[in-house]
Formats: sequence, C-alpha cells, structure tokens
Amino acid sequence: MLLSNTLYLVFVLLCPALSLSNGLKLRKCFGSNSGLSFSEDRDYHYKRLVARYSNCKLVQGNLELTGLEEPGLDLSFLQNIEEVTGYVLIALNQLPIIPLKNLKIIRGRELFEGKYSLFVKYNYNITTPSDGLRELRLNSLTEVIRGNVIIDHNQQLCFMDTIHWDDILNPVQRRTGGWIYQIGNLNKEPSQCPRCSGSCVAGCWAEGSEMCQQLTLEQCSSECGDARCRGPTPNDCCHSECAAGCNGPTASDCTACLHVNNDGSCAFACPPEFFYDAQSFRNVPNPGFKYRYVDQCVDNCPSNLLIDGNACVKSCRIGFHSNGEGKCIPCIGTACDKECFGVGQANGPLANAISVDSSNVHHFEGCTIVKGNIIFETFAFSGDLYTGVLPMNASQLTAFKDVKTITGYLYIVTWPKELSDFAVFKSLETIGGIDLFREKMALVIQDNTSPVGPFSLDQITSLGFKSLRAINHGNVYIGYCQNLCYDNLLNWTSVVHHPVQSRAFRNGVLLLRNGRSKQCNSANCDPECDSNGCWGPGPDRCFQCSHYSYQGSCLRSCPKSGVYADHNEKKCKPCHSICDGLCYGSGPFQCTTTVHLQH
Ligand SMILES: *[C@@H]1O[C@H](CO)[C@@H](O)[C@H](O)[C@H]1NC(C)=O
Ligand SMILES: *[C@@H]1O[C@H](CO)[C@@H](O)[C@H](O)[C@H]1NC(C)=O
Ligand SMILES: *[C@@H]1O[C@H](CO)[C@@H](O)[C@H](O)[C@H]1NC(C)=O
Repeated sequence: MLLSNTLYLVFVLLCPALSLSNGLKLRKCFGSNSGLSFSEDRDYHYKRLVARYSNCKLVQGNLELTGLEEPGLDLSFLQNIEEVTGYVLIALNQLPIIPLKNLKIIRGRELFEGKYSLFVKYNYNITTPSDGLRELRLNSLTEVIRGNVIIDHNQQLCFMDTIHWDDILNPVQRRTGGWIYQIGNLNKEPSQCPRCSGSCVAGCWAEGSEMCQQLTLEQCSSECGDARCRGPTPNDCCHSECAAGCNGPTASDCTACLHVNNDGSCAFACPPEFFYDAQSFRNVPNPGFKYRYVDQCVDNCPSNLLIDGNACVKSCRIGFHSNGEGKCIPCIGTACDKECFGVGQANGPLANAISVDSSNVHHFEGCTIVKGNIIFETFAFSGDLYTGVLPMNASQLTAFKDVKTITGYLYIVTWPKELSDFAVFKSLETIGGIDLFREKMALVIQDNTSPVGPFSLDQITSLGFKSLRAINHGNVYIGYCQNLCYDNLLNWTSVVHHPVQSRAFRNGVLLLRNGRSKQCNSANCDPECDSNGCWGPGPDRCFQCSHYSYQGSCLRSCPKSGVYADHNEKKCKPCHSICDGLCYGSGPFQCTTTVHLQH
C-alpha cells in the first residue's frame, strides 16, 4: 500500500486544498466501512476525515468517527452533515465534544455489526480516563429509521439517559423490526452530571436551553397515528411520508423523506412509467414518469449508472446485462456477458483481496464484465512473503483477454518486466467509473515517484489499450512512467466522457512526468490513424482509422478479395457467402463476379 500513499501525497502537493476549496457549496459524500480500525498515523487519519466530510451534507454510507484524540482538534468540518444513510459510529475518541449539531436523520440502511445504527462506545483514554467524550451534541437528531442505538463505556459522557430515545426511533420500524436503544451504565454516573436546563420539556444533549431535545413524536395528538408532528394539536401532524419532523402539514413540508423525494415532495414511490387506462384496458405511458435514484425521483439517471426498469442502478439484475448505452436489457440465449466481481467487491471471491495476484487471477478467466475494480498493487508480480502469495507471471494475465467492461476503476502500479504495454486488456472497451479511486480517478497508472527507483513500470513504452473507447465517469492519471511514449498522442477528450472537476487535471486528464526518454521524440501514430491519435505504434493501435478498419487494424484501402469498403462506417465488410470473392455490398446480388449457384 506504500505506493498508494505516495500517490496521495503527490496529490496533496499538487492541489493543496483539494477538498476544502469548494467554498460553501454543500455536497453529497461517501462514508466508510472501516469499523473500529483506523490508521496508526493519527494525523493522516484526521486529514482523511476532513477531506471526506468537509462541506458534506448527505453522507452516503456510514459516518465513522474514530481516533480523534489530540486536544483542540478542529471538528467544525462535521457541522454541515444533516443525513447519514448507513450507520453512525463514534468510538475510541478522546475529545470532549463531537459537534454533529445538524445531523437530523440516521437511516440505518447499513448496520454496524449487523445491529447498530448509532454506536457510541469507548470514547475515553484508558490511562487518563478524565480525557474523554463529555457531550454528544446531536441537537437536531429527531429520527433513526432502522437499527439499534447503543451508548456505553464512555466514562465522561453525560445527558444520554435524559434523552427520550423513544421519540427518535421510528415507531413503525421499531414495532416491526424490534429495534431497541440501550444506554449503558458505564457512561458517567448521572448524579455527577450537570442538569438539563429547566426550560427543556424532555431531555437535553448538554447544558443550556439551546441544548434541549426537540420532540417530534411524544407530544403528538393521537390523530397523527404513526406520523410525527410539530406541536400537540391535530393540525400539527406531519404528513405520513415525512421523516424527522416537518414545518407544515403537507408532503412538501417534511424535514426529510421517509421513502423518496419527488421534486421537494415526499412520496412512497416515484411516478410510475405507465398508467392503467381503465377505459381502453391498456397501460398508457405516464408523461410524469421518473426514475428512482437512491432517495430521489429523477428525470434521467446519472451518467455513471445504468437504467434498469424504473431505477438507476450500479449493475443490472440477474438475467439482464448492459447494452453498452447505459441500459439493462434481457440476456437472450448465450448472449449474456459473463460477469465477475472485482478486487475488494463485497460478496465476490475477491472481497478480501487488495490486489489481483497469483492466487485469485483465475477468477477473471472468461469474464467479460468486471463488476468493481481491477487493482495491481506493488506485490502482485513479486509475490508477498508475508501472506505467502506466490509471484504472478505474465502468462497468467491472459485471464483478462475477454474483459470488455470494468464498471469501477483500473489501477496499476506494477507490471511484468517482459510486457511493454497493457495489451492483455485487448478487449477492454469501457471503464465505467461507478467507483473511483480517491473519488476522482477511473484509470490510474503510476510508477515509483522516487527518482532513484526501484521502478516497476519502466518497461512500459506504450499503453496498448487498443479497444478502449470510453471512460464514462472519472479522470485519468498516468504518472512517472519514464519510458512511456504515446500517452500524449491520444485525444483523451474522446475517451474521458464525464471528468470530475479537480484542479490538477485538465479536462479530467493528468499525464505527469512520463516519456522522458529520447525515443519518445520519434514516437508517432501510424499514418492510417485519424486525428484522434493512438494507443501505441502500428496501424492496429489507432483510436479511429483515417480510411478503413479491418480485423482490428487500419488500412488505406480494403483488400481486393472477400470484402467491400463501407464508406459510411469506414469499415471493410465481408461479401455475401455466395459471392466468388469480389463484391460491392453485403447482399447476395452485390457480387461483382459470376455467381456459381449450386442446383
Ligand atoms: C492517554 O493519555 C496518555 C497521557 O496523557 C497518553 O500518553 C496516551 O497516548 C493516551 N492514550 C491514547 C490511546 O491516546
Ligand atoms: C505461470 O504460472 C502458472 C501458474 O503458476 C504456471 O502454470 C505456468 O507454467 C507459468 N508460466 C510461465 C511461462 O512461467
Ligand atoms: C478530440 O475529441 C473531441 C471530442 O470527441 C473532438 O471534439 C475533437 O475534435 C478531437 N480532436 C481532434 C484533434 O481530433
């Protein structure tokens, strides 16, 4: 993993305020899945958290706050978070206050240890227990939809027993799912804690009248049913599709939506594709149809996702495959692609791997679509003494020869000495970028950044991705490959379709310190390549042909026999089988020589 860290540092140096530069524009960000483990290097760990959550309003995934120890550490970067779709884990911290003051809703779609949506434990220092979490300022938290709450083993933590957790846990989910809360007795003894302000009707998160718990359930009129409310009268009931509360009675007045948000109004489902017309007994198209994208109803799916029926998805359901244009279509006969899981992809055979290596490379055999990422870490070809993984050789890489699509990213920091390009990926047409490296990059190729080596990619002279035509989402970074030519002879704008804006990249591409060797001066694309350039030398490495393509190569004119030139598609196409060699079109009547019809 050393090189990944180096890479991260390179980026920090290039763009000093990578994630802090967005001003006040709030964004969605991705949470983590690290649980209770975190980097030994506390400073690095803290910086990663800051980069992840600064200006973030919606955490997609889990919010995990761990290892915050240094007194006086600035946690103001947490203040914009309003919603977490997974769980919230606060553990092994020593700071007195965790200020998640705008967090309104925890959805609990993922649960910690399969049970917990809010887990607050072990927030003190064993040697000096007086250093520890004192106040959990979740002032705005009014809804935990799913999962259990546990708050225990925080020796300095006060006020948690005063909070009416029944008011926060979703009543329907609680009844049906049996979710509970548990405020353990290894927090600070309540008699030694300060009291809530006298103005609080329920409990409080800390001292002072502005720290009172806001109730949205307990004080509601019985007419509200399971819905929340903003006051005690029946007129104060929230709409039943609201979560966390409301400021009015309609589905447009909700604090958050229980199910989906359709243009600012909460609903159980998005507008369907068809209406049933009872008069004609037919389904008729609904002009207001929208796709479901996580919690939103949208007119179009984001470019990095696929359309599967009425939803925006990361991968098609079983029996369906991508048609290459962003839609899932049914597999017919054997036309279905063979899908396999990438490195680290949950539920796949490589779920616990961090790299392709000799022990797992066979899983890619025959695979046409890789769901997830392909990663070659430093030890992939040298083997790993520590884990006993044997070295991988170049011939094992033929496992990748059928891969057409990688839905995530491709990451390479090492390659066999005898291969001078990445042509083992000769069928690779598309990199999806559904997952991105460092949330930015869909293609990463980097050699050692140290000027003295050891070098792992100095044998690379061209890229050789001869079929790669599209990177649907995310950027390209290729760096420090000292003998790589041709990288700047390609029209990357044709390849990189939806770059992620970032300072170091130009139109989503960063080519850094490659091709310093002399022979690059004489590297040129084949004259048969058009102005979009090439992936390497020769007529079979063009991005597009000037004249005609034939059997994966570019030609000035089509061969005389067996094929004809299709001028529109710039392709040499086969004659009909009954033609005796020569033809001017694909049909049986477009042969140019005598046809010998058998009777
Ligand atoms: C706990 O506090 C002691 C004394 O201040 C400090 O040396 C130690 O590093 C702390 N422990 C942890 C786990 O941070
Ligand atoms: C590469 O490794 C595989 C599996 O260990 C082995 O069967 C094969 O003979 C090796 N090929 C070469 C050229 O070393
Ligand atoms: C590069 O690609 C872009 C987008 O496809 C295109 O507009 C542009 O003309 C291309 N440049 C050259 C030199 O072909």
